[in-house]
This record gives sequence, structure tokens and C-alpha cells, in this order.
Amino acid sequence: MQLHDNTIFITGGTSGIGKGLAESFHQRGNQVIITGRREERLKEICQSNPGMRYFVLDVTSRETLQTVARKAIEEFPAINCVVSNAGIQIRCNFAPGNAIDDHVLQQEIDTNLLGPIRVAAAFIAHLATRPGATLVNVSSGLAFVPMVRFPVYCATKAAIHAWTLSLREQLRSASVRVIEIVPPWVATELGSPGTPASIPSAGRGPMSLEAFVAETMKELESGAEEVAIGDARRLAAAASPDTVKKAFSAINAPWVT
Ligand SMILES: NC(=O)c1ccc[n+]([C@@H]2O[C@H](COP(=O)([O-])OP(=O)(O)OC[C@H]3O[C@@H](n4cnc5c(N)ncnc54)[C@H](OP(=O)(O)O)[C@@H]3O)[C@@H](O)[C@H]2O)c1
Repeated sequence: MQLHDNTIFITGGTSGIGKGLAESFHQRGNQVIITGRREERLKEICQSNPGMRYFVLDVTSRETLQTVARKAIEEFPAINCVVSNAGIQIRCNFAPGNAIDDHVLQQEIDTNLLGPIRVAAAFIAHLATRPGATLVNVSSGLAFVPMVRFPVYCATKAAIHAWTLSLREQLRSASVRVIEIVPPWVATELGSPGTPASIPSAGRGPMSLEAFVAETMKELESGAEEVAIGDARRLAAAASPDTVKKAFSAINAPWVT
């Protein structure tokens, strides 16, 4: 992916990975439009990065998403890259004796799965008219090897990975490149209360946001379509992406999209 002179719309730009990528793209000479629910944060980030713009957006609201996508395309017709990054991670336990809150389940699935699917649906027709069109989905190393304490989160990320594989093929003839960023554990605001900042006893800790962003930019520039970073590369390899890709080609070969 060319890392300059794009117009980039990013969901979840108020903190962590979305903010880090937004600022890095901004520094490289792209017009960046960030979104999120917290307007104060959006304002502050735009003030610190002159030229960056924002829209308030809750990706779980279909109506708001359609309105914001329409307004963003009207105001920034050069948008040629959309990054679906917004996500939440909720700890839950399905063993008997634990309460499962349906509203929380819905929120996690709507944010992490339906959100990116609707974002793509809202922008694809426009992207197909733009040079260098790119759609980026942010999944997780946990899409490949789930972590038991976050069962629904991991299922949404596995679904994002599976959907991204198909989307990439469906959009090939429309010349929209589809990239998946597969982050490892990164030091951000993600996670439920009680999630440790590191697990020294297991020798595990998060990658710094700065290192993650730097490595991601390098990989994006290399033209990779599946950008697994740090320890996520090991987790993705555990699911043997080459084997999956061969099987994917084999089952899809006889069918038209
Ligand atoms: N950090 C990690 O270890 C890690 C590892 C693998 C994958 N990831 C993925 O990376 C992505 C970014 O996460 P992060 O680690 O940077 O977490 P973060 O610091 O908590 O950032 C999450 C972002 O998502 C936005 N968001 C959450 N719910 C939203 C909604 N309903 N509508 C719109 N925006 C919403 C938040 O903005 P508002 O609250 O302002 O709306 C925030 O900007 C997520 O998809 C996450 O699953 C993270």
C-alpha cells in the first residue's frame, strides 16, 4: 500500500491502535479522518494534528453509520482508504452459575463484527471509483488461537478473518485491495476491568503501541495483504495460513462470486 497521498477514514480513532495509525498516516502526508464516540477526544486529537478531521460515530448504529459515511464521502470525495479498527473486548464465562448479559453480547458482536461489515458495505461503491482503493480490517492474533477468558471477542475476530478472506476475492475485480491487520497484544485501553497490564509470571506483556505502529507501517508498505505483527505472526502460523489459503482456493475455484 502506498503510505502517502491517500484520504483515509478510520473507525476507533480516539485511542490505542486507531489513534496510533491515524497519527502515523497523518505524519506521512495523508488526509486522515478519525471517528469514534467520544467527541472531546476526537477534538483534542485533531487539534494536536492540524489538518486531521473527525466525525462522531458509533459503529453499532446502522443509521448513524450510513449518515456519517454519506457525509464523509460528500465532504471528502477523495476517500480511497477505509480502516475498520473500532473494537471492544469483554470478558465472560459461559460456565453454569455465571450471568450472561444479552445486551453486552449484542454490543460486542455489533461493534466487532457487524460494525466492520456495515462500514465496508457503506464505502465499497465509493472506493471502487478511487485509485489505490484499500479497505483495511483489524482482526487479532486471537482470531487464530482463542483466549478462553474472551470467548465472544475471539469468535468475532475469527469471523472478521473469515469474512476478510471472502471480501478480498469479491472485491478483486473492483480493484479494491482488502488488507487484514492482525495485532498481537498491544498496550492500549482495550480490555475489561481486571485485565492485567502484563503477566510477568508467564513472561508475557504487550507490545508498545509505538513499536506496533512502526512495524505495521513497514508491512503495509511492503504490499502484504495479511499483516500479522509480533506474536500474532506465531498465532496466525499456528492455524497454518498457507494450508488455509490452499483449501480456500480449492473450495472456491469452481464458483463465481
Ligand atoms: N490492544 C490489543 O492488544 C489488540 C490486540 C488485537 C487486536 N486489537 C484490535 O485493535 C482494535 C483497536 O483496539 P485498541 O487496542 O486500540 O483498543 P482501544 O484503545 O480501547 O481503542 C478502541 C477504539 O474503538 C472505538 N470504539 C469502541 N466501540 C466503538 C463503537 N461502538 N463505535 C465506534 N467506535 C468504537 C473507541 O472509541 P470510542 O470509545 O471513542 O468510541 C476506540 O477509539 C480493536 O479492533 C481490537 O480488537 C487490539
